[in-house]
Amino acid sequence: MIFAAILAGGIGSRMGETDTPKQFLTLGDKPVIVHTIEKFAINSKFDKIIVLSPKNFINYTNDLIKEYFGDNNNLVVLEGGKTRNDTLINAIEYINDNFDIDDDSIIVTHDSVRPFVTHRIIEDNIKAAKEFGACDTVVPATDTIVESVDSKLIKNIPIRDNYYQGQTPQSFKINKLSELVNSLSESESNILTDACKIFVLKNEDVYLVDGEITNIKITYPYDLKLANTILKEI
Ligand code: CTP
Repeated sequence: MIFAAILAGGIGSRMGETDTPKQFLTLGDKPVIVHTIEKFAINSKFDKIIVLSPKNFINYTNDLIKEYFGDNNNLVVLEGGKTRNDTLINAIEYINDNFDIDDDSIIVTHDSVRPFVTHRIIEDNIKAAKEFGACDTVVPATDTIVESVDSKLIKNIPIRDNYYQGQTPQSFKINKLSELVNSLSESESNILTDACKIFVLKNEDVYLVDGEITNIKITYPYDLKLANTILKEI
C-alpha cells in the first residue's frame, strides 16, 4: 500500500503570522495547503492521503478539503504532534491502527508548505522508496557551504559538489521506519528531528531523488512573495 502524509502541524513562527499558520495563507487564489494536497490528490497510487494539522485547525482543514475536493474519502485529517517528527509518528500510528500493511508498504511524507512539488518528484519518491527503503529529495548546493562550530570562525569549507540541500518529499518503507523510530533512546529522539537522519545514523541507505529549485519551502514572508511569482511562471 502507498500512503501520503502531508505535514501541516506547525504554527509557522518564522512567518510571524501564528494566528493563521503559513500553510493556510493564500497563495494565488487558494490556501497554500490546498495547492499541496492537489499534487497528491491527482495521483491515483495513494491508498490514503493523511493531512496532519494543528488541533485548533482540524475543523478548518476538513472544511477546506470539502470545499476543494468534495467528499473525497481518500483524504483524512488528523492532529499533528508537538514536533515535525511527532506529527510523522501520528501518521504512522494511524496507518498501523487502520490498515493491514506489509513490509513493502510505503509512506511519502511532504511539507504542507512546499506547494510546488511535481508529479515527477512524487513518482520518483514512490519508486525509490520501494527499491531502496528510504529516499530524500534534494538539489545540489549552489552556495559554498561554510562550517563553523562557534559562529565566529570557519572550521571547514567542504567540497561543494558533495553537498545537497534537502527538500521533501522524504519517503520510507513504513515498517522499517517504525522499527527504527522505536529503537531510538529518548535522547536520540530529541535530536533526530529528521526522519532521513534516523536512517543515516542507523546505517541504513537513503537514496537521493532529484528535487527542483522551484520546490521551495515557504518559511519567511519573502518566500510567500516568491511563491506567488513562481505560481505565475509555472
Ligand atoms: N510541521 C508539522 N508538525 C510540527 C511542526 C512542523 O507537521 N509540529 C510541518 C509544518 O506545518 C510544515 C513542515 O513541517 O509544513 C516544515 O516545517 P517548518 O517550515 O519548520 O514549519 P513550522 O514549524 O510551522 O515553522 P516555524 O519553524 O517557523 O515555526
